[in-house]
Amino acid sequence: MTGPEFIFMLTRADRTVPDAMDRLAEGLACGLRHIGFKDLGLPLADLHRLASAVRGGGGTLYLEVVSLDAASEAASARAAAELGVDFLLGGTRPDLVLPILRGSGIRYYPFAGRIAGHPSRLEGSPGDILESAQRLCDRDGVHGIDLLAYRSAGDVPGLIEAVCAGVDKPVIVAGSIDCPSRIAAALQGGAAAFTIGTAALDGVFPAASPALAVQIAAIRAAAVAAMIPAARKPIIDKVNLAQAFASFSDHWNPRIAGELGDFQVKLAKLKGRFQWHHHEREDELFLVIEGRLRMGFRDRTVDLGPGEFIIVPRGVEHLPEALTEECHVMLLEPSTTLNTGNVENERTRRELDRIA
Ligand code: NI
Repeated sequence: MTGPEFIFMLTRADRTVPDAMDRLAEGLACGLRHIGFKDLGLPLADLHRLASAVRGGGGTLYLEVVSLDAASEAASARAAAELGVDFLLGGTRPDLVLPILRGSGIRYYPFAGRIAGHPSRLEGSPGDILESAQRLCDRDGVHGIDLLAYRSAGDVPGLIEAVCAGVDKPVIVAGSIDCPSRIAAALQGGAAAFTIGTAALDGVFPAASPALAVQIAAIRAAAVAAMIPAARKPIIDKVNLAQAFASFSDHWNPRIAGELGDFQVKLAKLKGRFQWHHHEREDELFLVIEGRLRMGFRDRTVDLGPGEFIIVPRGVEHLPEALTEECHVMLLEPSTTLNTGNVENERTRRELDRIA
């Protein structure tokens, strides 16, 4: 797989849908090329038709095994081989499945952890699930892990991150992904791919309309947004300064509130006196929002109140000082600007938090 993929599952509640053929045509028309279905819901003859339609559309084919008993799991693995799928996802019995897949070229991603019920649930502690994933990944013929993260109780983003970091093979997060935050948790946690079926087919993924094409567009947009590094994600909503300042309380620890070009808008609460410093290359703008600020220079001082700003040019030594109990300032400066400038000490902040 190259980059995180959205695998469109032609399934609802863990069964292949009766109108899978029509839905597949819609998905292909939207440009989707990673298509999955399950071993329950449709007769094998229909799955054959689906498989050749996916292949005919230039797609990659995934079969996810949800059958719980050994005989059904073996039958699904044989069906996967017969259908010539590219990926076999799920199942819990590598000892049974690996001999069937041998020589088929099918990439095998069994479920990590203990699976129960139908629709499937993922049981056990995060530690158990990780250990299971690692054991599976140690085996030849296992190419990755199918993680039913959102079918488990507890801290799901934490589980995804732990499993992705703890194994050296790709992880697909499957099951119950129905909103952008779940996609973000999967992709930011390190998943190679995620699957969505029910939410898109039922039209319940947050989007302008329940129509499948709109659902698919929203899912792709969410996946793209999730992959933009947080540090570079533009804030496209308004920023309310009062709310932003209320969201933190420490002093001399600027927060990033926005970015424009190579510049950052930072908010800081100042208390008492900072320290003398200068910035080798960066000019620095201080706009007072609340309280009073004294900007000390070697030859004079400038006092500022709310609604007043001052620009300190590069190379000029300065000493900011709050004249009131606390002073709230907005800074506009190149993103390379270090708060303590040429001086590095315990007040230096290299990694700035962002206003949420
Ligand atoms: Ni400075």
